[in-house]
Amino acid sequence: MKHIHIDLGKDSYDIHIENGLLDRAGEFIRNMTKSRTLAVISDTTVDSLYGDRLERSLTGEGFRVHRIVFPAGEEHKCASSLLTLYQQLSDAGVTRSDYIIAFGGGVVGDLGGFAAATFLRGIPFIQIPTTIIAQVDSSVGGKVGIDLPSGKNQAGSFYQPKGVLIDPELLRSLPVRFIHDGMGEVIKYGCIHDVKLFELLETLNDKTIFPYWEEIIERCCTSKARLVERDVLDLGERMMLNFGHTIGHAIEGCYGFGHYTHGEGVAAGMSMLTGVTEAMGLTEAGTTARLRKVLEQYGLPVDVTASAEELLPYISNDKKMRGNHMTLIILKAIGQCRLLPLAAEDLPKYIRKRENQ
Ligand SMILES: NC(=O)c1ccc[n+]([C@@H]2O[C@H](COP(=O)([O-])OP(=O)(O)OC[C@H]3O[C@@H](n4cnc5c(N)ncnc54)[C@H](O)[C@@H]3O)[C@@H](O)[C@H]2O)c1
Ligand SMILES: [Zn+2]
Repeated sequence: MKHIHIDLGKDSYDIHIENGLLDRAGEFIRNMTKSRTLAVISDTTVDSLYGDRLERSLTGEGFRVHRIVFPAGEEHKCASSLLTLYQQLSDAGVTRSDYIIAFGGGVVGDLGGFAAATFLRGIPFIQIPTTIIAQVDSSVGGKVGIDLPSGKNQAGSFYQPKGVLIDPELLRSLPVRFIHDGMGEVIKYGCIHDVKLFELLETLNDKTIFPYWEEIIERCCTSKARLVERDVLDLGERMMLNFGHTIGHAIEGCYGFGHYTHGEGVAAGMSMLTGVTEAMGLTEAGTTARLRKVLEQYGLPVDVTASAEELLPYISNDKKMRGNHMTLIILKAIGQCRLLPLAAEDLPKYIRKRENQ
């Protein structure tokens, strides 16, 4: 079993990672709390695959369990789901001495975590993430929230869980598109922070990776934990996690949300930007070729057909744009990144390499 401690003073918590941990969740949660009642929030897919197993483990430790299930999908990370959740928590008689368990992917973690942050002004909660995105990214760091009609993640807060329980074996049932989607973020951690992780990924592919998930998740969560400890409110260093995201978000928006997944957008964004910065001499020679080879091993795109001019309008809304200035995260080499402040008018030349450049 692997443990990562996140040191945030009174909000500190531990991440536990082990194959098969789902069946020991009750024991772990019993060590964290004396509460009698747990509300397990999940979506229809995760509940039908794993809900009974989790309930058995929890009731085995004497917990009273209320399963609250909402339909799977990003479109349900919304205000009306949140109101329904409040009602269901209230109907179940959940009090501030009880615990909420967010059991699912990033959608469940964000929505369930935001319900926990706000119901009765805050109920302690535990994350049991079940997708790659959730196990390496969204369950760590305390960002919770919902989408509004005006934009993704526009209502939310910072609310740290009491603990995170990660069972990598749950990834075995994940459809292949979500494997590829999550790999965009995993490869990103290798690029910005962890050359050893990148080297390991170079030796594997989307089929041979499964025995290595414990180690890979530990490495990603450690990177994120150290960045979160230094920058809880996402005002500085945590920005490094945005490598590939400025162009990635533009790709997602330009093609319409759902055409490219988030991880696919990030993958193409990392590859396109690194192609430019390497040609400019800002990135070690050979980095782009290595990055593109790894992305392709995991079924991810390295470019898109849209031109810089077509992508540009989708960048101006990006939160990294402040007035006439913005900051891009670029690679110095695999495993090392840096901030590159630039004037907004210079942005187009960083989106893709011109043929004659
Ligand atoms: N809070 C943060 O810091 C943060 C960071 C990154 C992403 N996010 C958010 O996370 C969300 C994306 O997360 P996601 O990709 O996990 O999406 P998701 O929660 O919608 O899960 C993807 C799909 O996989 C299914 N699923 C989940 N676990 C499964 C399993 N083990 N086996 C089979 N199917 C399974 C789900 O039911 C869903 O249909 C977005 O809303 C994004 O904004 C938040
Ligand atoms: Zn991302």
